[in-house]
Amino acid sequence: MSAQAHALAKSRYDDATTATFAADVLSGLTAQPKRLPPKYFYDATGSALFEEITRLPEYYPTRTELGILGERSAEIAALIPNGAALIEFGAGATTKARLLLASGAFGAYVPVDISGEFLNAQASQLRADLPELPVYPVTADFTASFVLPKPVQAMPKAGFFPGSTIGNFEPHEAALFLRSIRAILGRDAWLIVGVDLEKDERILAAAYNDAAGVTARFDLNLLARINHELGGTFDLDAFRHRAIYNRERHRIEMHLISRKAQEVRVEGRRIAFHDGETIHTENSYKYSLERFATLARGAGWTPHASWTDRDVTFSVHALRAG
Ligand code: AVI
Repeated sequence: MSAQAHALAKSRYDDATTATFAADVLSGLTAQPKRLPPKYFYDATGSALFEEITRLPEYYPTRTELGILGERSAEIAALIPNGAALIEFGAGATTKARLLLASGAFGAYVPVDISGEFLNAQASQLRADLPELPVYPVTADFTASFVLPKPVQAMPKAGFFPGSTIGNFEPHEAALFLRSIRAILGRDAWLIVGVDLEKDERILAAAYNDAAGVTARFDLNLLARINHELGGTFDLDAFRHRAIYNRERHRIEMHLISRKAQEVRVEGRRIAFHDGETIHTENSYKYSLERFATLARGAGWTPHASWTDRDVTFSVHALRAG
């Protein structure tokens, strides 16, 4: 493609993504109660803030999952046939995949992510570190269907979905997603998935209301993004972040709460807030081992094994297609 055609295609892509962002924001802010989709957290600032969250003392999921994978990667890799392709959904930094890749005889690594630039940088680094391992990055929205690269189609397959990202889906969406990756990976595939567990509510509340206020900045960045990209007029100081645990629904809910009655403009529309009104920005579902196994079974997977840390705060599951 010529540079001009490439720039044109990119600007059309950007126009289309901005239009979808605008439509999603307006439909969420005119709904009752107000809501915004969490997938929009992850612009460059939001992704950097999320990285910061993963290093917070209160945010236990990342280090706990790394601990489980560090201890159990040989056991997990032993389940997967030699020469299998490891397909990671939503691959960020490859830290977790590297633990599995170092413990097994994998035929290829296929990181799938919507952010092509970051993905290709990670892939180059991995190729430099593991020159024997073919790496085939796929730039795609992993929640939609996509085609696996030709060279891995005939290989045995193992999906990898760490981080408890599955917890950010509504349970019915999580089931649909598990079903769709089963279709992508095919018969006899394995899926290794990280799932955060229900626990003492004080631990959960602290993890999403950290003392340093990083999660608050992450949440408020959504409003900053609306200001930058959609010409919004949100005053960030006029909203505060709060995460609560909803016991009946087994989920952490993140909310941005209006500190006063106010009006905000987005894309020429006036959005009115009353004092204390909230925008629901994210759900993070927490499972029991049994409830997750039931969800997986309902989506066509057979739970084979699961591992947790000693305090049973986080889990890693090995599921078999079939
Ligand atoms: C990406 N996801 C698993 C995180 C979670 O814990 O639900 C997102 C997050 N939101 C606030 N802190 C972290």
